[in-house]
Amino acid sequence: MEISCGHGHLFHQFLSPWANRRDDEYGGDWDRRTRIVTELVAALRDACGAGFIIGLKLPGDDGIPGSIGPAEAAIIGDLVTRARNVDYVSFAGGAHARTLEMHTPDRHGPPMPYMHFIRELRHHLNDVPLMALGRITDPAEADGILARGEASLIALGRPLVADPAWPNKAAAGRTWDIRYCLSCNTCWGAIVMMRVPIACVNNPRVSRPDEVDYWPEPLPEADRQRVVVVGAGLAGMEAAWVAAARGHDVTVFGASDMPGGKALLREKLPGGETVSSIYDYQAVAAKRAGAVLKLGRNANAQDIIALQPGTVILATGSTMIPPDWLPDDIRAEGWVPDLRTAMPEVLRHPGQQDGTAVLYDTDHTEATYACAEALRARFARVVIVTPRDTIATDVQMVTRQGILRRMAEQRIEIATLCEPRWSDACAEGRLELVNMYTGNVTVIDDLALLTYATPRAPDDSLTAPLEAAGIRVIPVGDARAPQEMLFATASGHAAGETV
Ligand SMILES: Cc1cc2nc3c(=O)[nH]c(=O)nc-3n(C[C@H](O)[C@H](O)[C@H](O)COP(=O)(O)OP(=O)(O)OC[C@H]3O[C@@H](n4cnc5c(N)ncnc54)[C@H](O)[C@@H]3O)c2cc1C
Ligand SMILES: Cc1cc2nc3c(=O)[nH]c(=O)nc-3n(C[C@H](O)[C@H](O)[C@H](O)COP(=O)(O)O)c2cc1C
Repeated sequence: MEISCGHGHLFHQFLSPWANRRDDEYGGDWDRRTRIVTELVAALRDACGAGFIIGLKLPGDDGIPGSIGPAEAAIIGDLVTRARNVDYVSFAGGAHARTLEMHTPDRHGPPMPYMHFIRELRHHLNDVPLMALGRITDPAEADGILARGEASLIALGRPLVADPAWPNKAAAGRTWDIRYCLSCNTCWGAIVMMRVPIACVNNPRVSRPDEVDYWPEPLPEADRQRVVVVGAGLAGMEAAWVAAARGHDVTVFGASDMPGGKALLREKLPGGETVSSIYDYQAVAAKRAGAVLKLGRNANAQDIIALQPGTVILATGSTMIPPDWLPDDIRAEGWVPDLRTAMPEVLRHPGQQDGTAVLYDTDHTEATYACAEALRARFARVVIVTPRDTIATDVQMVTRQGILRRMAEQRIEIATLCEPRWSDACAEGRLELVNMYTGNVTVIDDLALLTYATPRAPDDSLTAPLEAAGIRVIPVGDARAPQEMLFATASGHAAGETV
C-alpha cells in the first residue's frame, strides 16, 4: 500500500505550510503538520502487521512559493521516517495548483526530472529505502539510478500503462521490444478529464486481459487472406503488424521512405522526440510478423487492385481544410500554407528571421503549439490568432497547463476572439485582425509568415474505386475520422484484429 501524500492531495495539504492554516494539533509547526501522516502510518502498521508493505509518497518540490521545496521535504522526510515503520519513501513534484503539470512530468521537459532532489533527499530518511520516481522510462535509466546508489527501488507509473511487460522484457534483454511511454499524459487525460477508461497512445490493448506481452494468435489457414494497407502512418503500421501476426498476407504501401506518417514531423518538433517509439515498435513488429513494406510508393487504385486483396485497410491520413477567410485564388497559389505543409519548410531553415509569423488556430490540439514553439525559435515574433476565447481547448488540463506556461515564457502572443481579414495589403506584409464581436481591427504590419491549423478532412479518395472493384475497404486513423495519435493506433489495432 502506498499512501499518496503528494500532488496536492489531502495529506499534502496537511503537510504544506502554505495550504495548512490550522491552529489545532494538526497545524502550526512541522511536528503538527506531519502528525496526520505519522498517526495514519502507525494505525495502518498496527492493523496490518509487520509483514505488510507500506510506502509513503511525499512532496519533494511542489513548486508553490511558501509551500514545500526540497529543504522542507527533507524536514518532512526525517519526521515521518523516525519511527521506521514505513518500508519505503518516494518523492514527487507538483500540486493541484499552477504546478499540476509537474506531477506527471511530460515530454516537454527532461527525463527523470525529480532526480536532482531525490538524490539529495535520500540522506534524510533515517535509512528507510528510497524509491526513485518520475519519468523513468528506459531500463538503462533505472539501472543507472540503482548502480549509482541514488535510490534502492524504481517506481514506474505511466511506463507500465504503455507496456505492462516492461520489467519482464528488461530482465530478458528485450528492450527493443518495449512499447515505451511517450510521457504524453493521454492516460491521465482519459481518466481524469474525459472520465473514460484508461487509454494509451502506444498501447492500444491497455487494460485488456491479454495486454501483457501481447502477440496475436495466428488464424487457421482457411481464414487468412491478402490484405493491402495503404499508408504507413501510425494507423496503417499498427493495422499491418497485427494483421500480419494473425497470419494474413500483408502488403503496406507508404508514400514516404520511412514509416510513421505525420508522426515523423511531430518527432522533429519540440516535445516530439518520444513519438518515434510508436513507429519504431510498429516497424520491428511488422518485420517480425512478416508484413511486406513497399515504401516510397504512392499507390493508386490500380496498384492496389493488381494485388487482388480481400481487404484494403485505408490509412491515408487527412488534410487541413483552408479557413473561410482565405480567398480561393490565394488557396490555390499556396503561399498561405497549412501548418503541416509549412513546418517541414520552416524546420529546414534554422536561422533567425525578422517579422511576425501568424498562426491561425481553430485546431486547438497540442501539435499546433509545438509548431508555435518551433516558429518562435526562428521568427522575431509569433502571434497565435484564434476566434475562440482561449487556446488549446482540445488539450486536457495537465498538458494545457504546460502549453500555457511555455507560450508565456517564450513570449508567444495570443490574439483571442479574432480572425484575419484578407486584403491585397497582405502581400506587402500588412495583416488585419478583426474582433469577432466588435469588428475592431488590430494590424500586424511586418507579416513574414501566415499559416493555419484547422480541422481536417479525411483523404479517402481511394475508397470509391476500390469498392467499385468489389474490395472491402476499412478506413482507419485520420482517413476514417481525423483525430489524434490515440485514435490512429487504436483504430489501426482494431482493424488488424478484426480483418
Ligand atoms: C505536425 C503535427 C503534429 C502532431 N502532433 C500530435 C500530437 O502531439 N499528438 C497527437 O496525438 N496527434 C498529433 N498529430 C496528429 C497525428 O499525427 C495524426 O492524427 C496521426 O498521426 C494520424 O495517423 P494516420 O496514420 O491516420 O495518418 P498519417 O500519419 O497522415 O499517415 C498517412 C500516411 O499515408 C500516406 N499515404 C497517403 N496516401 C497514400 C497512398 N495513396 N499510397 C501510399 N501512401 C499514402 C501519407 O503519405 C502518410 O504518410 C499531429 C499531426 C501533425 C501534422
Ligand atoms: C493516469 C494517472 C493517474 C494517476 N493517479 C494518481 C493517484 O491517484 N495518486 C497519486 O499519488 N499519483 C497518481 N498519479 C501519479 C503517478 O503515481 C506518478 O507519480 C507519476 O505518473 C510519475 O511517475 P511516472 O513518470 O512513472 O508515470 C497518476 C498518474 C497517472 C498517469
